[in-house]
Amino acid sequence: MTNRITIHTDRSKGTINRNIYGHFSEHLGRCIYEGLWVGEESDIPNTNGIRNDVLAALQRLNIPVLRWPGGCFADEYHWKDGIGPRESRKRMINTHWGGVVENNHFGTHEFLMLCELLGAEPYINGNVGSGTVQEMSEWVEYMTFDGVSPMAELRRENGREQPWKVKYFGVGNENWGCGGNMRPEYYADLYRQFQTYVRNYGDNRIHKIACGPSEGDYHWMETLMKQAHRFMDSITLHYYTIPGTWASKGPATGFPEADFGGTLKKAMHMDELITRHSAIMDQYDPEKRIGLIVDEWGTWYDVEPGTNPGFLYQQNTIRDALVAGITLHIFHRHCDRVRMANIAQLVNVLQSVVLTEGERMVLTPTYHVFDLFQVHQDAELLDAHETIRAIDSAKGELPQLSVSASRAADGRVHVSVCNLDHASSASAAIELRGWEGGVRATATTLTSGRIDGHNTFDEPEQVKPAAFSDFAIEGHTLTANLPPMSVTVFELAADR
Ligand code: AHR
Repeated sequence: MTNRITIHTDRSKGTINRNIYGHFSEHLGRCIYEGLWVGEESDIPNTNGIRNDVLAALQRLNIPVLRWPGGCFADEYHWKDGIGPRESRKRMINTHWGGVVENNHFGTHEFLMLCELLGAEPYINGNVGSGTVQEMSEWVEYMTFDGVSPMAELRRENGREQPWKVKYFGVGNENWGCGGNMRPEYYADLYRQFQTYVRNYGDNRIHKIACGPSEGDYHWMETLMKQAHRFMDSITLHYYTIPGTWASKGPATGFPEADFGGTLKKAMHMDELITRHSAIMDQYDPEKRIGLIVDEWGTWYDVEPGTNPGFLYQQNTIRDALVAGITLHIFHRHCDRVRMANIAQLVNVLQSVVLTEGERMVLTPTYHVFDLFQVHQDAELLDAHETIRAIDSAKGELPQLSVSASRAADGRVHVSVCNLDHASSASAAIELRGWEGGVRATATTLTSGRIDGHNTFDEPEQVKPAAFSDFAIEGHTLTANLPPMSVTVFELAADR
């Protein structure tokens, strides 16, 4: 059966906020240290301590927003440990992640410098679980106050005269778990208290983010919205795609065939979670003032054999590329509520876009999806209707295709299509309704001949985008034969 997709090229469903292409970097394993920060004295070429190869790769992605310092680490982090001369910063134990020494060489100044180098908005996550109201309040003052005050003076003593602009500030992380094991009623009260002292200084306007639920904890969402919606600009949601169980998640490579579709089916659960959480939010916020921020998402597998279990280091395959494509499409569809998302995590942890080993670096299949999908950032989501073939997976039926279309400010239309079927190519007829004149198209695809096709340090280009030409255009209909397990992006422009 041919999959039929109708795209109404003249009907916008809203703007795809570029912040859904955001990332997350935690003091966990080799994400910050080694992955991003090597220090100024390192033999690895660097810019003020940030390794150049990773920096250049990330700059190409146009990362809109970067979350830091955690994660679970956020509720154990005391920001004053990470300022001042590096050699005299406190050394501490990263109790949550592997019990390794944290020397605090990467702190507030280094993170905000990284954001400046990337052109990304900083999203700072404050400490509610083991921190104080005063500590959180002073952090904001330190970063954003321009006048005379103890924290502004301290910042100047540490070499930064001008305050930074910090827009996004999270008041705690996973406070239902590692962030304090709180009940929602208790956290809602703490949230109200802590956020009171997260001040706007000068023209810096903070977007306050409350800690939201894990997965399908609708009681948490209901309680937070009921007790605290007036005090928040956004609320978070965390959901990870795990092929197996928390105890035995399954390997990142060399997995059984059934785990390919099974994993994609689990990734699609994001749609139900957003729909149901949004329905609760609608009751308290029908105007949709408050954003839903999915600030942790992605695949979570067993760690690579022989690596520290607390470091969450995993390989990344074409299966991950499809999880990324499907999930980003779900965020597009919910662009009325989902205003930001942050894949976990940027480098060397969980579903990363970049992996490093010593001085070597490799781009993952997930990197290529974020690269190809950049065209959707801040574009208008186009209305689309689909009749898609169902395929079987170990965890129930799946649609063979996942599709999303958007119009960029310059008029170009981009259609991204994921073929979830690892065994068969998929035929698709894409009708462009409302299009005037002729159509010119080019396309790029990402695919692999193996269900666990991936890039290694020795073979870094096993999975990479390639020009795609197995399509034809007749009138306003584009027909294509999409390779098995592929992510393809078409770029359509007027041909007059
Ligand atoms: O991303 C890894 C961890 O997953 C984060 O620290 C935590 O917030 C979540 O449980």
